[in-house]
Amino acid sequence: MTMTSEWVAALPKAELHIHIDGSLQAERMLQLAKKNNIDLPYGTVEEVDKAYQFKDLQSFLDLYYLGASVLREEADFYHLLMDYLLKCQENTIVHTEIMIEPQTYLANGIGFDIFMPGFKRAIVDAQSRWGISVLLILSLLKHTTEEECIEVLTMADGYPGDFVALGMASTEMGNPPEKFQRLFQLGRERGYRLQTHAGEEGSADVIWGSLRVMQAERIDHGVRCTDDPQLVDYLCSRQIPLTVCPLSNVRLRVFDKMADHNIIELLKKGILVTVNSDDPTYFGGFLNANYQALVDAFNLDKEDVLALVKNGFRASYLPEDRVQKFLDELDQMEAG
Ligand code: ADE
Ligand code: ZN
Repeated sequence: MTMTSEWVAALPKAELHIHIDGSLQAERMLQLAKKNNIDLPYGTVEEVDKAYQFKDLQSFLDLYYLGASVLREEADFYHLLMDYLLKCQENTIVHTEIMIEPQTYLANGIGFDIFMPGFKRAIVDAQSRWGISVLLILSLLKHTTEEECIEVLTMADGYPGDFVALGMASTEMGNPPEKFQRLFQLGRERGYRLQTHAGEEGSADVIWGSLRVMQAERIDHGVRCTDDPQLVDYLCSRQIPLTVCPLSNVRLRVFDKMADHNIIELLKKGILVTVNSDDPTYFGGFLNANYQALVDAFNLDKEDVLALVKNGFRASYLPEDRVQKFLDELDQMEAG
C-alpha cells in the first residue's frame, strides 16, 4: 500500500524511549543558562547545532549532562517537560513513557522536592489540555555506584506511584548489569517494572546479562542482539521488546547510515521492535522524524509502519485493555 509522509505523521503513536533531558531544546537551554547564571560553551542556537557532532556515546553524554546543568528551579523542570509534551502533540504521540534521571539533578544540588513538582505540574496541565497518557521511568546511571543508585531508589520511595519502572542508562562499557544486582532486587521488591539500556555500544553479552541478572522485561536499544542468533531467537520467542532509536543510532555511529540499520530485519524476524527518539534535540529529530527516516531508507509500506506503531503500544506498560483500545483505533484507520 502506498502512503504519504502526512499519513505516517498523523498516526497515533506511543513513545517508550525518551530521556527528558534529551528533549531540552536549544533555545530553552540558552534561556535557562542565562537566567540561572550557568556558563555554557555556546551562546547561540547555531553554535549549539555545530557542537552536537558526536563520535560515540561518551562524547554525546558529556554534552548531554552539561545541557541538563541549566535546570535549577521547579519552573525549569515544568518547561522542560511541557516543551516535550507539546512536541508529543505535534508528533501525534498519545502515550509516552519518559525517563527521569534524578542523579543528573542531584549532582547539581537539586532534589526531588524541586524537580518532581515541576514535572508533575506539567503532566497535569498536559493531560487536562490534550488528554495525553504519561508514565514515568526512574532511570539510574550506570556510570555511578550501586550504593548511589540505591540511595536514589530510596529517595523515590517518597513518591509512591509516580514511577512505573526502574531503568538503567548512561555508559554501557565497563558497567555490566552484574554491578547492580542488589539494586535490581530492591527495585523488584518495590514492584517496579525493570528495563535497561543494553546492546547499544555493548555486546550481545550485555543483553544476556540484563535478561539473567536484572530479569529485564524490556531492553532499550538492544540492536547488537544480531551478533548472537540464539539471543535473537530468545528475544523473539519471549517477545521481549526492544526500544530502538534509529536517528540516535546513526548519530552515535552504532550504524554508519540509516540503510545499514537492522530494525527492519528484526521486525521481519518477529522481534517486538519499537521506534523511539531517545534524545531528540541532540540527534536531529522527534518521533515522526525517526519514522520518516526509516520510511525513506527502507521504502516501507503501510503494513510495515503500522506493525512498528502497534508494537509501541504492545510493548508499553499500559494495562491490556488500554493497549487494546489503541490497537483497535489503529485497525480502524487501516481499514478506513
Ligand atoms: N542517556 C541518554 N541517552 C542515552 C543513550 N543513547 N545511551 C545511554 N545512555 C543515555
Ligand atoms: Zn536512551
